[in-house]
Amino acid sequence: MLGNFMYWNPTKLYFGKDSLNFLDEELKNYGDNVLLVYGGGSIKKNGIYDKVIEILKRNHKNIFEDNGVMPNPTIEKVYEGVERGRKAKCDLILAVGGGSVIDYAKALSVSIHCDEDIWEKYFVRFEEPTCEIVPVGSILTMVGTGSEMNGGSVITNFSKHMKVGHVFKENVFPKFSILNPEFTFTVPHYQMVAGIYDIMSHILEQYFSDTDDNTSDYIMEGLLKSLIHSALIANENPLDYEARSNIMWTATWALNTLVAKGKTTDWEVHMLGQAVAAYTDATHGMTLAAVSMAYYHHIYKYGLAKFKRYAINVFSVDPKNKTDEEIALEGLERMKAFMEKIGLVMHLKDLKVTEDMIDGIADSTFINEGGYKVLTKEEVKEILRESL
Ligand code: NZQ
Ligand code: ZN
Repeated sequence: MLGNFMYWNPTKLYFGKDSLNFLDEELKNYGDNVLLVYGGGSIKKNGIYDKVIEILKRNHKNIFEDNGVMPNPTIEKVYEGVERGRKAKCDLILAVGGGSVIDYAKALSVSIHCDEDIWEKYFVRFEEPTCEIVPVGSILTMVGTGSEMNGGSVITNFSKHMKVGHVFKENVFPKFSILNPEFTFTVPHYQMVAGIYDIMSHILEQYFSDTDDNTSDYIMEGLLKSLIHSALIANENPLDYEARSNIMWTATWALNTLVAKGKTTDWEVHMLGQAVAAYTDATHGMTLAAVSMAYYHHIYKYGLAKFKRYAINVFSVDPKNKTDEEIALEGLERMKAFMEKIGLVMHLKDLKVTEDMIDGIADSTFINEGGYKVLTKEEVKEILRESL
């Protein structure tokens, strides 16, 4: 049965080849000082930077730059950006990049006017902001996280071996996001498929929980089918606009809060993956891929009906003359074959994880209670070892 919920998503989206044209219109809603946040330089190489600067200048904005946001953005970088944002007295933070840049921009948005310790407040105590929030707008260049239409902000503190996501409420969601699938054409294959698996994992971690037959399950099966179909096309031809645009749209719907409404969710694969990244700085989607097979083989018996449904509805497993368990396992085999086909990392050793790191990674793994099986610490270690 669907539980009680409030659904509201305040992010305005502009989608398509011409979507950047709407930046002019949006900029009129904000003051003169714009903090332009971006990553390690891909937007300079592919020309997106020049296009954005031209529009900002045309709108007489004062441009303050904060670049070098790394994948898995660090708390140290956030502290530095907060200072820049304060000096700039920024009226708008414009994030141009992937999930890391947008997550980082959200962290700045709740910290520039905050005089408390932001790591402790947001990423240890998980408090809501009590200060003024600087509005964020985003121009997405890498697909996967859904950060363009949600309140997630994932920040890493390597000295504490913690990679932590705070899911902020709607007042921290980007005010607007511009999604041009062509801007993603230059993303390297490794990052593209990592993003594809991130989307898949977001859907699965909201699908594999609860026993109910609710609308979200049907939406998620549709999203998964579209994603798998488009991923196979994009894997062969990354410049296929239709495939890339469908992947982009699927990513947004996978994690813009809709499909989680009224049901419980799991998120244990993300907890494992984030702990791996806190030790290795590995690419987000690959950390998820590397632990997924061991995790799902560990828990499928506790949610057998749903794993059976997944096998039949998403991977077209023929159920005739098979036990529920055989059907579920065949579904997982097909999922593994899909993952291998698009070139995902299937083992933690390929992300530089070694046996002696397992205890530490297990200690950094949050244990959630919304999935089919609440893991013990020992089970976390087992899954990590099996993933090596
Ligand atoms: O830094 P630059 O030079 O821009 O290069 C980036 C980066 O190296 C490159 N890239 C991005 N757009 C490109 C491009 N290269 C060429 N052409 C382009 N158009 O791609 C690399 C990865 O970028 P990144 O932003 O790190 O990837 P992603 O979008 O996967 O973001 C990952 C981060 O988001 C967090 C992850 O934990 C990780 O820290 N997540 C955020 C979530 C949320 N807000 O809800 C949920 C997710 O589960 C995830 O945890
Ligand atoms: Zn993710």
